[in-house]
Amino acid sequence: MIRKITEYPEKVLGEMGKPVEKFDEELEKLCEDMFETMYDAEGVGLAAPQIGLNLRLFVMDCEDIKLVAANPEIIETEGEQSGQEGCLSVGKVPAVVVRPMKARLRAQDVKGEWFEREAEGYAARAFMHETDHCNGKLFIDHLPKLRRDMVVTRFKKEKRWK
Ligand code: NI
Repeated sequence: MIRKITEYPEKVLGEMGKPVEKFDEELEKLCEDMFETMYDAEGVGLAAPQIGLNLRLFVMDCEDIKLVAANPEIIETEGEQSGQEGCLSVGKVPAVVVRPMKARLRAQDVKGEWFEREAEGYAARAFMHETDHCNGKLFIDHLPKLRRDMVVTRFKKEKRWK
């Protein structure tokens, strides 16, 4: 089922997510819905707060990495990259964000098994962007104030025309 995507500045997007504790059928169903919602919106990642749930959970399908991450943490980073990023909750308005080049993610899968996965470039960016969502942080929070305001203004303007 396609869920409604929560948009900036809804409160849930700024809240620290609660840990996922139950790895049951309901969680599996939720992850299916999240993948469906993400593909429908043509995104490469979607976190639970983006469908209004205050939970530390995201799904992602980016380059060769498709996964469910519950209780995600970035445990290691390396290098630096500067590239365009956007978010389904901010109308995909792009902005250049500086982030580490490589990132190592530690999380639980849909069954509750812990795993670690390393990514580079765009996929590493997705790991960090989605983990940020679980911590109540948006990509615009990484921008200097002036550029952040420009993204928000453009998002609001485009929204009025929809
Ligand atoms: Ni996002």
